[in-house]
Amino acid sequence: MQKVKNTFTLTPEQIVTIARAFASEMTQGLLGQKSSLKILPSFLTRPTGNESGHFLALDFGGTNVRTLFVSLAGQGKYRIEKSLSAPLKDPAGKYDLIGGGTDAEALFDFIASQVNTVAKEGSTSHLGHTFSFPCEQIDLTTAVLLNWTKEIKTSGVEGKNVTALLDRALARQGCGTITCRAVINDTVGTLLAAAYQTPHTDIGSICGTGHNTCYLEPVSPLTGRPMIINLESGNFDKLPLTPYDETLDRQSKKPGQQQLEKMVSGRYLGELVRLVLADVSERFADILPSCLFVEPYSLDTKELSVLLADETQDLAAIEAWLASTLKVYLPLEARRLMKEAATLVTTRSAQLAAASYLGILFKIDPEFTQPHTIAIDGSLYEKLPGYAAAIRATLTAALGSKASLVNVILTKDGSGVGAAIAAAIGEK
Ligand code: BGC
Repeated sequence: MQKVKNTFTLTPEQIVTIARAFASEMTQGLLGQKSSLKILPSFLTRPTGNESGHFLALDFGGTNVRTLFVSLAGQGKYRIEKSLSAPLKDPAGKYDLIGGGTDAEALFDFIASQVNTVAKEGSTSHLGHTFSFPCEQIDLTTAVLLNWTKEIKTSGVEGKNVTALLDRALARQGCGTITCRAVINDTVGTLLAAAYQTPHTDIGSICGTGHNTCYLEPVSPLTGRPMIINLESGNFDKLPLTPYDETLDRQSKKPGQQQLEKMVSGRYLGELVRLVLADVSERFADILPSCLFVEPYSLDTKELSVLLADETQDLAAIEAWLASTLKVYLPLEARRLMKEAATLVTTRSAQLAAASYLGILFKIDPEFTQPHTIAIDGSLYEKLPGYAAAIRATLTAALGSKASLVNVILTKDGSGVGAAIAAAIGEK
């Protein structure tokens, strides 16, 4: 376990080195040179806070599709009037719209039917669409999916303009009057929603099933003016990998891609913990049966939460969880190993996310002359015990007294409210 610990522990120096590498990949990307970061324009800048009106918001992130009816009242005030959510993969196994056996038409018909249901009850046909995947945008409403991430396999979407796919599906549903006014990434939605209310917001990030960050670039290479840029930072690859990261990557749908996301996001954290435990159990088979860790992706962030949340001396909550779900009893020593594996993997995830934020700050304000707000949404940041604190601690360790200039906030509903704000801007 000490060996495992050494491979997962990042020193403060390593974190700053990663941050500097991140900043230099940003510079290269902005100059149009080879970079693992994408510089994807959003055609949006910070909102004024006075955008107003009623909008449909569609949030497609890969696990669920959510449709909202949002009222923006200006002065940073908004209300979510209605919200409808449906899984893209039926837990009971009746349908799977994100697996290899489905195509674009089936997926977008399902999405359009959800939009139609909410639209019928509302009074607007203007829609903002949060599509949380790497897209090349040529304007505010045209977004071409570059490649799926989060292990999604639906055919016929990569390389296509998702607004056109949605428009055609809406027409098939008989609601062709609904018009997409803006399509954005969820990180952009998070930045917009936070900036609508909180000054100095210049970074938006998701630490959830997926991981990615956008920021407000003061001089966009496209326009020479400020623009929010989606970095698709999940693809950043100047990182020290452990043997577990290498195994996970080799066994993933797209080896070599999304390296940072594979070390940070909820889609993969449980699997990293499983790989560690499978390895450790070979040496401690008497207390930690390896058969528990055979099935790939059998641990997810809900289980990690149980492991991380148990602060009792005898790890009683973990014992109870093992008894009820896996029907096993494991001695205290084994429970400790499980908790430690979860802590190592989760802490590193938070540290790497923080290192990428540091990289952005080094790039946009090297002298730290201004206050900055980092808006984060996602289940890891919101719910995983210790996660938000680890991000804060990493920033403080790296920045010392300057850390007081950096405000980190949870921005819930960024994908929905941000889409409505983007649609309001698009309408203008
Ligand atoms: C996608 C990003 C998205 C992030 C968070 C990643 O897998 O590539 O576009 O912002 O997940 O949802």
